[in-house]
Amino acid sequence: MQVRASNPLTLAKVSCIVFGIRFMTSFAIGLEDFSSLRQAVPDHVMIGAAIPELLLEDDRVSSLVGREFATITAENEMKPQSLQPRRGQFNWGPADRIIAFAEAHDIVVIGHTLVWHNQSPSWMFEDEQGKPLPREVALQNMKEHITTVMQRYKGKIKGWDVVNEAVPDGPGALRDTPALRAIGDDYVLKAFEFAHEADPDAELYYNDYNIELDYKRDRALALVKRIRDAGLRIDGVGIQGHYLLDQPSIEEIARGIKAYTDAGFRVMITELDVDPLPRQENVGADLSAVERDAADPYREGFPEPMQQKLAERYRSLFEVFLQNPRITRITFWGTTDAYTWLKNFPVRNRTNHPMLWDRKANPKPAYHAVRQTLLKYRDPNQQIVK
Ligand code: GLA
Repeated sequence: MQVRASNPLTLAKVSCIVFGIRFMTSFAIGLEDFSSLRQAVPDHVMIGAAIPELLLEDDRVSSLVGREFATITAENEMKPQSLQPRRGQFNWGPADRIIAFAEAHDIVVIGHTLVWHNQSPSWMFEDEQGKPLPREVALQNMKEHITTVMQRYKGKIKGWDVVNEAVPDGPGALRDTPALRAIGDDYVLKAFEFAHEADPDAELYYNDYNIELDYKRDRALALVKRIRDAGLRIDGVGIQGHYLLDQPSIEEIARGIKAYTDAGFRVMITELDVDPLPRQENVGADLSAVERDAADPYREGFPEPMQQKLAERYRSLFEVFLQNPRITRITFWGTTDAYTWLKNFPVRNRTNHPMLWDRKANPKPAYHAVRQTLLKYRDPNQQIVK
């Protein structure tokens, strides 16, 4: 239809409509711009999630990951047991598919993990009788693993958790592991040395749980300082961040993180989740029906007051994380409540609700609390580039 320029009323109407559409579109774009975690996050932080390869077949959740997160970590697919179950026999498929997904969605990949006492094949550090291999053989196995894996993914993985969980919960500087028994107490330093040789461009991290807590902090700090003092590259300390609803206290977490950043380290929160289910002492034992009911109280759904408690816990954690400019990444260990290891830990087969999205991938109050907190710490002049 032609607009008759001579009719001022029609012109006014048209301009109103055009202005209205423009206004509504810019308003819609404005909201849209901040509608995901990766868009809401302040510039100095990256927001991520751990995903299993299986998730890539779930269109709803994989598109959620593409929309919400700027980094991903493979939940199991890059661990030594997954990549090299037998000496010299590498299984790349699942890890490759996770990387291809990340590339297709402009997502940065974090490598997890090169040396760990769990989910690692025994041949690397032990003989067939379970005795420690000679130091030189174990060093060679470790070096070959690190070198082959890091060189394959050079340029595709931003940084690696080189060593995971080397500090014991009890006394002592290093956990008693097959690597320690075969190589000796410089095995962590050797792992960092080999990793830097394998890919000089990759960032290298030390990753562990509870190392921000008073009982473990000084020993972990001593270890990362030892790596740095040896002149080796270490780009950050990964604090896993598997928390409960009311433990540990926010003050202890904040104090612990500050100890690392005050010592000059960057910190990444690498495996964040908040478990709202009760923790019991005898977690390994078979549970009676009554015990099971008490251990699994939200099978029929997660009540509103609990939703709010979870949201507030996440809000206070993000307040701590975002106030510290040396925290450069926050990664959730999972995505929706359907994809969380906490369904099976520490008790198998429970209905758990630790994540920001429910089982149907709908955002929970915890999601909104996190997004609001991210926006609160965002520089208003920050460009939207993601
Ligand atoms: C540890 C490991 C992770 C993962 C989680 C729980 O924290 O670093 O790879 O196994 O436990 O599943």
